[in-house]
Amino acid sequence: MSAQIIDGKAIAIEVRKQWKRRADQLKEQGILPGLAVIIVGDNPASRVYVQNKIKACHEVGLYSELHDLPGDISEEMLLAKIEDLNQNPSLHGILVQLPLPDHINVNKVLETISAKKDVDGFHLYNLGGLIAGNTVFPPCTPYGVQCLLEYSNIPIEGQNAVIVGRSNIVGKPMALMLLQKNATVSICTSKTRDLKQFTSLADILVVATGKVNLITADMVKPGAAVIDVGINRLESGKLVGDVDFEGVREVAGHITPVPGGVGPMTITMLIANTIMSAEQTIHPQ
Ligand code: GUN
Repeated sequence: MSAQIIDGKAIAIEVRKQWKRRADQLKEQGILPGLAVIIVGDNPASRVYVQNKIKACHEVGLYSELHDLPGDISEEMLLAKIEDLNQNPSLHGILVQLPLPDHINVNKVLETISAKKDVDGFHLYNLGGLIAGNTVFPPCTPYGVQCLLEYSNIPIEGQNAVIVGRSNIVGKPMALMLLQKNATVSICTSKTRDLKQFTSLADILVVATGKVNLITADMVKPGAAVIDVGINRLESGKLVGDVDFEGVREVAGHITPVPGGVGPMTITMLIANTIMSAEQTIHPQ
C-alpha cells in the first residue's frame, strides 16, 4: 500500500491562517508584530530563503525589515547592528540568516540576539529551555515537523522516534521536542554503524543529513511516518530530499515530499514565533 503524502504546502496555508488571526487580534490592540532579517554577503541560497521569509511576513500582515549587509562587514559592526535592533520596540523577532562568512563568530552573533527576540530559537537560553522542556521559541524546522505530525494525527507518545542527523538546527532540537512528547528517541548520524538496525525500529523517522538516498525502502518499518528534512539539488537541477521517495512511499504509512513537505512549515513557524513574541509583550512569561 502506498503511503499517505503529507502535504506541507496545504498544512502551512492552514496553520498560517490560524496565526494570522492571532496577529489580527494583536493589531486590534495596537501591536503590529515585527521581524528583522539580517543577511550578510551573497550566498544565493540564503538570499532566496530570506526573500521567502520577508514575503511570508507580508502575506500574514506582519511588519518586516531586511538588513542586507556586505560580506566583508566586521564582526563588531554586525554585533552593533544586532544590539541596535534589540533595543527597537517595533521589532519582536530578529533573525540572522546562516551561514555567516568565516571571519564572523557565529556563536557570538547568536548570543547577541536578545533571547526575547530569538524567533529562530538558536540562542543558548532557548536551547537550554528545550532541555528543561519549556522553551519559549522552538527552532522553526523541528517545530514545523512537530506541527506536521500533529496535523496528520500521527501519535508521538510512546512511539519509537529515530532522528538521523545531529545538527543544532534540526536533529538535536527535534530529538528533545519528541522526547518532551514522550516518544522513545534515538539520534543517529550519517556515520552510524548499521543505520538500518535503528531506522527499521522507527515509528517516526526524521531524516536531516543532506545525503541523497540515504534512506531506502528496506530501512523503513512498514507503516512508519517518514519526515524528510533534506534539501539537495541534483546536477539535473531537480530538488530531492535524503529519502528515496519513490521506494519508501511503498512501505511507509506517511511520507513528506521534497519539495512541498517540511520546507513550507519552517517559514510558517518563524511567523508563529514572531507573533508569539509580540504576544509576550502583553503577557510576559
Ligand atoms: N540557515 C539554514 N536554515 C536556517 C534557519 O532556520 N535560520 C537561519 N537563521 N539560518 C538558516
